Amino acid sequence: MSKTLIAYFSRADENYFGGAMRYVKTGNTEIVVNKMKEMIDADAFKIEMKDPYSPVYMTCIEEAKEDLKSNARPELVSMLGSIDEYDTIILAYPNYWGTYPMAVATFLDRFDFAGKKILPLCTNEGSGMGHSESDLMKATEGANVVNGLAITGSRADDSDSSVRKWLSSNGLI
Ligand SMILES: Cc1cc2nc3c(=O)[nH]c(=O)nc-3n(C[C@H](O)[C@H](O)[C@H](O)COP(=O)(O)O)c2cc1C
Repeated sequence: MSKTLIAYFSRADENYFGGAMRYVKTGNTEIVVNKMKEMIDADAFKIEMKDPYSPVYMTCIEEAKEDLKSNARPELVSMLGSIDEYDTIILAYPNYWGTYPMAVATFLDRFDFAGKKILPLCTNEGSGMGHSESDLMKATEGANVVNGLAITGSRADDSDSSVRKWLSSNGLI
C-alpha cells in the first residue's frame, strides 16, 4: 500500500509580509501543510531545530545565512526512526537564501531516499523554488524529485487551489 509522509520546516514569530513585519503563531509553510493534511491521507513530521533561530526576523536572517555558509547541520528536536513505510514524501520548507533551511539538510542526511518519490513545496517571498530542487536532487540520490510547487508565503492562506491542483497532478488526490 502506498503511504505518504509530509516532512516540513516552518518558523513562526516575526516575519516579513509584503512590506511589513508581523509576529505570527503559525508559519507560512505550516499553514500550507495544514491544508494538505485536510486534502490527503498522510503522516506529518515537523523538522524542528533544538536551538531555533531567533524570533526576531533580522537576527534569524543572519543566523540562517551563517548556517548556510558553514554548511551546518543543526541538531533537531526529534527524528523519525525510519521512512521505510513511505513511498511518497512531500517536503515542505521556506526558501532561505535561495534554498531549503539547513535543518532540512539534517533531515535529508539521515535517510536513504533511493526509490522514493519526493514532492518539494517551497514558500517564499519572490525567489520561487530558488535552487532548492537541484540541491534536493543532490541530497537524495536515486529518488524521483518531481516538479516543485512554489507558494508566496504571505499568501499561504489563499493557496488551496494551487496546492490541490499540484497534489492531483501527482496522483495524490
Ligand atoms: C532566514 C530567511 C531567509 C529568507 N530568504 C529568502 C529568499 O532568499 N528568497 C525569498 O523569496 N524569500 C526568502 N525568505 C522569506 C521566506 O521564504 C518566506 O517568508 C517563507 O514563507 C517563510 O516560511 P515559514 O513562515 O513557514 O517559515 C527568507 C526568510 C527567512 C526567515
